[in-house]
Amino acid sequence: MVLLICGMIFLYGLVVLFVIVFEGCVVFVKDLSVPEVVKRVLSELGYDSLYPPQSDAVEAGVLDGGNLVLAIPTASGKTLIAELCMVKSVLNGGKAVYLVPLRALASEKFEDFAKWEGLGIRVGLSTGDFDSSGSELGRFDILVCTNEKADSLLRHHADWISKISVIVADEVHLINSVDRGPTLEVVLARLRQVNPSAQIIALSATISNGHQLAEWLGAKLVLSDWRPVILKEGVFYNEVISYSDGSSHIVPLIDPEFSICLSIDTIKGRGQALIFDSTRRNAVSIARRLSSILSSYLNKGERRALNGVAQEILRGGEVTQISKQLASCIEGGVAFHHAGLNYGQRKIVEEHFKKNLIKVVCATPTLAAGVNLPARRVVIRNYRRYDSNFGYRLIPVLEYKQMAGRAGRPKYDIEGEAVLIAKSAGEENLLREMYIEGAPETIESKLASESFLRTQVLATIASGYASDRVGIMNFLGKTFYAYQFGSDFIEIILEGILTFLFSEGMIESRENVLVATLFGKRVSELYIDPMSAVLIRDGLKLKAEQTTDVGYLHLISSTPNMPRLYLGRKDYKELGFFADEHKFELRANPPNEYDDPSDYEWFLSELKMTYLLERWINEVLEDQIISQFNVGSGDILRFVETADWLLYATYEIAKLLKIKEELPYIQRLRLRLNYGVKDELLELVKLAGVGRIRGRRLFDAGLKTIHDLATVEVEELSKIPTIGKELAKKIKKQVRDITENNTDTDAPILTNGQTSLTDFK
Ligand SMILES: Nc1ncnc2c1ncn2[C@@H]1O[C@H](COP(=O)(O)OP(=O)(O)OP(=O)(O)O)[C@@H](O)[C@H]1O
Ligand SMILES: [Mg+2]
Repeated sequence: MVLLICGMIFLYGLVVLFVIVFEGCVVFVKDLSVPEVVKRVLSELGYDSLYPPQSDAVEAGVLDGGNLVLAIPTASGKTLIAELCMVKSVLNGGKAVYLVPLRALASEKFEDFAKWEGLGIRVGLSTGDFDSSGSELGRFDILVCTNEKADSLLRHHADWISKISVIVADEVHLINSVDRGPTLEVVLARLRQVNPSAQIIALSATISNGHQLAEWLGAKLVLSDWRPVILKEGVFYNEVISYSDGSSHIVPLIDPEFSICLSIDTIKGRGQALIFDSTRRNAVSIARRLSSILSSYLNKGERRALNGVAQEILRGGEVTQISKQLASCIEGGVAFHHAGLNYGQRKIVEEHFKKNLIKVVCATPTLAAGVNLPARRVVIRNYRRYDSNFGYRLIPVLEYKQMAGRAGRPKYDIEGEAVLIAKSAGEENLLREMYIEGAPETIESKLASESFLRTQVLATIASGYASDRVGIMNFLGKTFYAYQFGSDFIEIILEGILTFLFSEGMIESRENVLVATLFGKRVSELYIDPMSAVLIRDGLKLKAEQTTDVGYLHLISSTPNMPRLYLGRKDYKELGFFADEHKFELRANPPNEYDDPSDYEWFLSELKMTYLLERWINEVLEDQIISQFNVGSGDILRFVETADWLLYATYEIAKLLKIKEELPYIQRLRLRLNYGVKDELLELVKLAGVGRIRGRRLFDAGLKTIHDLATVEVEELSKIPTIGKELAKKIKKQVRDITENNTDTDAPILTNGQTSLTDFK
């Protein structure tokens, strides 16, 4: 067996070398124009030569500082080119930023770049805390951050930004995305404005208009369809996968669910599979069903190890319906993965999938961007997605290619395959023509939205990047939108935005120079939509009859920065009661149900979020919130994070408006939100290892304060459910430190953007 594997790897090596030489552009690591130490790191990692598209990038002058758009297939090694440029520049005294669209990808890249730390290069990661000057980040040579974080840093004018010598934008095709595109585009335009001499490297999936991106960025373009690992693409229909290369493979129908048959077939060939479905519910139900079938293919050792992973899931926070389901699936060698899982759960799934312990992962497309996973076969279960505005829509080719591209990654496999599922011969042809043979779409800027530009225009003025209409238009004229569609439309929107900012007191004109008022400047730094700031300001001034949690939670839930929850049929009645019960606490006048039915519906969805947050701070179990609101733990975490950020903004705006009497209330509410506890637990949850669940257990056992804990014996403490000996000792030590050093404070201390959602930290 070992011999066979060695033989296959050798053969694969030969094939790759043949292809490289045949393509005629092999660049060896030893010949690269980078310092010797860099070559040494690469050789130690087993990199001898560059892949052909990487070699093309070098030929295009990327190592000499030229701008580059690298629009090449998945798994073709785009990151390495960026790394070489960053490291070369840093060793010459420069500084690099690596921009990514998602936090998960940021941490993967951060871990990956640790390989350069041996050369004295300091790599940093920054994804949260939007109201920070970021001056402390100046100590890093390579900073990995999300586009949003970069946007916020640019508003704070950290001095090191002007020292950036290399800017890398990963997954730059996401300029096409309504949610993520505009920020990325503005960050790139802004960084170029601040650092015109910095090198720009844009890494993109294969797209049809890479030349436009390249022209916009003043960059050379490298295109290729080369992939280091063969990716066979096929359609499964009638027991057979028919691949585009003409080959086929029969898959036994052991279950009515085809994705299950395709996964078991992969397992039998000792591979791992990744199933993509557009809905969370399907991802979970397929995982559950597959788990009961797959478990019989596991050996004793694997079962034992998987049991350990399942326990890890259950120990990692509050036990919920979701964590129980996930743990039980994992025992059978299968996991599901979607945004409803919390960060810890997702990490565990990814880690053990990479270790080949979890054999199949059923995921929503959140897992499709840029990550390296060991999937030999990717099954794309559906190619239609529900959109609340347009009904069912076909997914773009670009997205199909991203999902397909998770299969066959060089680190893990020597061949990969992506399979679509058809239910008729006609559908089989359609899928082949549309996705396998279809060209990826062109990408188009989504910048011209008033709400997005409102934020950016204020930021441009507040951070001193422009001081009149011409300056603003000059900047907006440098965006990809203006490159693609011209500036006329932006100019029209700009008039409305400036009027809004003037009338809301965020900007003023002093001798024909536009400047931000104190309020405007703070709003820009707080990184919230100016519209949110207006609602918060007016809500603070309005003064409800009583100051209550619901009043503030509704105030922040009514801002455009807070996501909306969909209303189910039964919600109308329940939320109607909730509205009646709390009407005197609200800091905004509710719309009339009969005069403005659509505004009222909007109001109810704000109330639904309010209600969810209210349940959370009153210690309702995560599991109950999950079933009552049809959300996942990961969603709760995200809502709480956003609410925390908006409450922080509320606090800061109240400070600015000198509404001092409200400050302590807002601060305590923020703490309660962070920990998900009632006021009476705030003293206990400041202890590491004590969260909402353990805090409540301690409180109910009569240990209500630090003082109470100081008087109890370790033995007794350890008997309280969920505490145990280890934690009891840890708690006692902390209590001693607090009482002896007299460092006791009323409540736990918060850094902005930090949350402590579980007992497990
Ligand atoms: N020259 C090389 N020799 C050997 N392995 C390489 C080489 N270049 C990159 N790799 C490996 O190839 C894998 C894929 O690289 P990378 O993640 O950069 O792909 P990518 O092009 O960014 O793909 P995606 O579009 O999916 O993000 C990584 O595991 C990387 O270590
Ligand atoms: Mg990548």
